[in-house]
Amino acid sequence: MKTMIVTGGAGFIGSNFLFYMRRTAPEWRLVCLDKLTYAGNLSTLSPLMEDRMFSFVRGDIADRECVYALFEREKPTVVVNFAAETHVDRSIEDPAVFLQTNVMGTQVLLDACRDFAVERFHQVSTDEVYGDLPLDRPDLFFTETTPLRPSSPYSASKAGADLLCRAYGRTYDLPVTVSRCSNNYGPYQFPEKLIPLMIANALADKPLPVYGTGVNVRDWLYVEDHCAAIYDIIERGTPGSVYNVGGHNEMRNIDIVRMILRLLHKSESLITFVADRKGHDQRYAIDPTFIHRELGWLPKTSFADGLEKTVAWYRTNRTWWENIVNGEYRDYYERMYSNR
Ligand code: NAD
Ligand code: TYD
Repeated sequence: MKTMIVTGGAGFIGSNFLFYMRRTAPEWRLVCLDKLTYAGNLSTLSPLMEDRMFSFVRGDIADRECVYALFEREKPTVVVNFAAETHVDRSIEDPAVFLQTNVMGTQVLLDACRDFAVERFHQVSTDEVYGDLPLDRPDLFFTETTPLRPSSPYSASKAGADLLCRAYGRTYDLPVTVSRCSNNYGPYQFPEKLIPLMIANALADKPLPVYGTGVNVRDWLYVEDHCAAIYDIIERGTPGSVYNVGGHNEMRNIDIVRMILRLLHKSESLITFVADRKGHDQRYAIDPTFIHRELGWLPKTSFADGLEKTVAWYRTNRTWWENIVNGEYRDYYERMYSNR
């Protein structure tokens, strides 16, 4: 039987990936390893808990003893690493845990994959490792050969992990693949990120804090399309390769916020422009030619449909996000947004 260890599966993209795998590749036994930080939520995985082909282990990817014991027990065929600290604003406040989890944690996983002869290690990375593109050069895109030029402690830690993956492939012949995806949105995203934060605040008639003038551009992809790309890479991708994942869907933050308000029939007077993020990346834009040409991958969900589905999901699943908006998050929100 084939076993896949999925780290960070109690978070946003990891949980969507587990559901995607259950639906489309039921032959895999799935083992989720997650530390359950503020961003991890076990209740998200409740539909899988009775499944005999699924198990959950609480643990830290940077804890060598825990990771080795798990690999010894499970003998994984494939390991896919979603586990990370992921929020840029938090990385600006306190970078240390980003390096610990995103760099050292990835190293522990790479070592374990070597020692247990895992057939594939897939690192889920981000387009943020490339830094940003200028707003006045819409002709420029990130390709897999664009130099790494991260701007935030978050993106620097992800770039560090990518370089380790490359080095383990080259030095030890470890079969590693890396995907660098643009911004994701969809169900189960923690409400500190742009889209769910704006939906949650709009539903509560609270101010919508737009950084700077709202002209920064992100390239948005519906989370299920990202999950499909990752599985395509695991199944058919070439070890040693990096794949950029994106669907040519660039949007200015302010335009997204306005779309959300329209979908919720709320007034634009809720928009509040606040002080800009330090080092704020201007524009991200992915060139996905390589994954399309090599694996035939293309996104299936348009932004209009995806955003409508996402808004509907947050409306219907209010208890999911109200329950995770706990004391820690309230303190963070207060620190981040009061007097901004
Ligand atoms: P998330 O913050 O929603 O979830 C991260 C998960 O990792 C949580 O369940 C958390 O408990 C777990 N985790 C954190 N530290 C851990 C540790 N030390 N050991 C084990 N588990 C730990 O993140 P996400 O948005 O789902 O992102 C998943 C991955 O995708 C990340 O590697 C991120 O860099 C990458 N990515 C995200 C986006 C995006 O738009 N969200 C885009 C491109 C790439
Ligand atoms: P975010 O969701 O944090 O993702 P990332 O920084 O990794 O791209 O932010 C997306 C964009 O939205 C980014 O340009 C910052 C902006 N933003 C706001 O304007 N207000 C907010 O409250 C947040 C969280 C983000």
